[in-house]
Amino acid sequence: MMKILILHGPNLNLLGTREPEIYGSLSLADINSKLIELGKEYHAEVSCKQSNHEGALMDALQDARMWADGVVFNPGGYTHTSVALRDAISAIAIPVIEVHLSNVYAREEFRHISMISAVCRGKIVGFGWQSYVLGLRALSDILTDEDSGDEVR
Ligand code: DQA
Repeated sequence: MMKILILHGPNLNLLGTREPEIYGSLSLADINSKLIELGKEYHAEVSCKQSNHEGALMDALQDARMWADGVVFNPGGYTHTSVALRDAISAIAIPVIEVHLSNVYAREEFRHISMISAVCRGKIVGFGWQSYVLGLRALSDILTDEDSGDEVR
């Protein structure tokens, strides 16, 4: 059974009520329970965490290297600012998939920049909560391929 961390950054605890026209009407708890259920289909044990604090997100990434096979990460606004989160992703050997609910490229220019994309295995944007579903799918496929010695890079 593979182990996957779904990590949500700042303000994502407000999903459902936060700008629903951009981020959708599902709450974070709704999304997490869908991902935990979906994980079962992929033989993945899915754990979900959210923090509004950059340091706590770093701790979660560092901690994940001890127990998780990979991470699906939405760093929220820290995506566009955080060298420290980028360094944390570089520092851990496990694959990290960057996800965003909104299509950041159709929004303000400052959202077009991601500090973390270059150190993530891949990136999914713009599909609402389904971005997490696609991220989880991609990660479990990568991990399964790696496991069978048939790694795709
Ligand atoms: C976001 C996009 C970010 O620009 C924004 O700051 C968020 C959410 C997304 O999921 O679309 O908090 O990461």
